[in-house]
Amino acid sequence: MPAHLLPVSRRRFLAVSASAIAGLGHSDLLGSDSQVNPNSWALISDTHLLSQRSIDQHYDNNRTAMEKRATLVATNFERAARQVLASAERPAGLVLSGDCVHVGGKEEYELLARKLKLLDTIPIHLAMGNHDHRDNFSNVFREQTQSDDRLLLENRHVSVLKSQHANLVLLDSLTMQTPDRPVKGPGRLGKEQLAWFEAVLDSESDKPAVVVLHHNVNPSDEYRQHTGQENFIVPSADPFRGFTGGLEDTDRFLALLHARPHVKAVVFGHMHQFQIFKSRNVFFVSMPPVGYTFGPKEAVGWIRMLLKDNGATLEVQTLDTKHVRHQKRVDLRWS
Ligand SMILES: [Fe+2]
Repeated sequence: MPAHLLPVSRRRFLAVSASAIAGLGHSDLLGSDSQVNPNSWALISDTHLLSQRSIDQHYDNNRTAMEKRATLVATNFERAARQVLASAERPAGLVLSGDCVHVGGKEEYELLARKLKLLDTIPIHLAMGNHDHRDNFSNVFREQTQSDDRLLLENRHVSVLKSQHANLVLLDSLTMQTPDRPVKGPGRLGKEQLAWFEAVLDSESDKPAVVVLHHNVNPSDEYRQHTGQENFIVPSADPFRGFTGGLEDTDRFLALLHARPHVKAVVFGHMHQFQIFKSRNVFFVSMPPVGYTFGPKEAVGWIRMLLKDNGATLEVQTLDTKHVRHQKRVDLRWS
């Protein structure tokens, strides 16, 4: 099931436009609302909402710190939502690139649903991270997701968001240790998803593709020997945390991207560290977290992405508006 939450007005729009949804279940999200900038997207990541029940069940030895954390992430979510809503132009959509919640319990998704009501004028698209739980997510949001969604891929939340200048392809890198327990660490796309991804890229090659997933790439030394080292365009504020713990099938993922020149950018969370690098002709954007950072110089925040016909402008929105990186703009030019 693709993980879309749409405003009521937009749900109605899509319901009457079902024939416009292409064969692979793609969603055409260009509405007719004049207040919306169809090229503007709010990108957020790693919100890590944490419930009291999760603290009671999993953090009995660390209760005080985790209760503080729960308050912090809830406050940060609300601050980010307010910043998104305060934008002069409403974005065409908001993409949350995983670790939506911290433990993955049902009640955490109920908390997420309540928080997302703050943003109920904006279509929301969610990707799964290693702290998420696919079934608990689905069960809580079943009522709210777009009724026309069809199953694109068994047991994965994937989707394609079409827009004027680029298609956004959302992948699902969450792996489950057991049906009840997410792997709290690395991710994997898997053979079936990579085949689906390849088919999507080949059928949508008329426009640039921006790929969104939770886990960072982690290429092998052997792959790097072919592609060369990454070229850092925006370095992290704190020391680079390294790629360990990222996507296990990175080499196959990158081989697909690098063979298709219309793939222009990959956006991912997981590292909790904002940075941008380039490998061959593809930009890799490591998202700032909304929930919490690991280092003192990193800032919590999100990114406004403005898609253009030959690139994208990213504007960092730190929750602390006095942070040195607040409203820093980075122009990515497709080559
Ligand atoms: Fe995270």
